[in-house]
Amino acid sequence: MTRDAQAMFVTEWFLRDSNSVVAQPDARTRERIELPRPRMQGGRPIMEVLKDRASCRQFTNQPLPRQLLSDLLWSAFGVNRPAIHGRTAPSAQNWQEITIYVAKADGLFVYEPTEHALLRMRASDIRSAAGLQPYAGGAPLDLIYVADFSRATDASEEERHLYCVANTGFIAENVYLFCASERLGAVVRGAINRPLIAATIGLGRAERVILAQSVGYPSAASELDSDKHSKIH
Ligand SMILES: Cc1cc2nc3c(=O)[nH]c(=O)nc-3n(C[C@H](O)[C@H](O)[C@H](O)COP(=O)(O)O)c2cc1C
Repeated sequence: MTRDAQAMFVTEWFLRDSNSVVAQPDARTRERIELPRPRMQGGRPIMEVLKDRASCRQFTNQPLPRQLLSDLLWSAFGVNRPAIHGRTAPSAQNWQEITIYVAKADGLFVYEPTEHALLRMRASDIRSAAGLQPYAGGAPLDLIYVADFSRATDASEEERHLYCVANTGFIAENVYLFCASERLGAVVRGAINRPLIAATIGLGRAERVILAQSVGYPSAASELDSDKHSKIH
């Protein structure tokens, strides 16, 4: 079975089984998970972090403590200059068009940067179904990067695509560097089931799933395996 056919098969099975095409709960009534204030100090020196930055594909199932999750999301694309709603990653023309969805064992959430909180979208665990590689279901966190093209104004179609992908790359690199600093494992992934993710979240016509990124504590075997698994996608 080709990868596309496999993705469609999993999508049909998941949507039928989880009843996940039901209407989304209204944004105002969604369960809200407050995150503690992010720690904006500390971390390891940047040169050590760069020395250690690498992709990891073997994780323990230990969930991240809430403070670490808070720090991670803030580092990824949080608000670092509230007076101008500046963010930790740049975006072309300051579109700020990327939204981070967080898939965990206890459901699917959306990160609200202004309030620095998570809103629950789903109670189901979509990590395995959303990833096309077996390890994706085992990482405690799957960050899913979605671009809203309607926010990408004053650009040609080609520029819109290029810049949305570039903007996602900056966020993903922030996550890689935060993880290296905290000795967490991470891998950015393009091999993902975009139709399933889009249907589960209930994405609009102008929204596109760009990439996902697994994050968690590396298992003891991960260092030994990192060379074997580092095929380019
Ligand atoms: C845009 C992009 C897509 C990627 N997609 C995948 C993927 O689907 N699965 C995977 O295991 N790794 C994926 N990777 C990770 C690369 O394989 C990895 O970065 C590369 O092998 C170099 O290894 P390093 O990150 O440890 O330096 C992706 C990386 C990028 C930048």
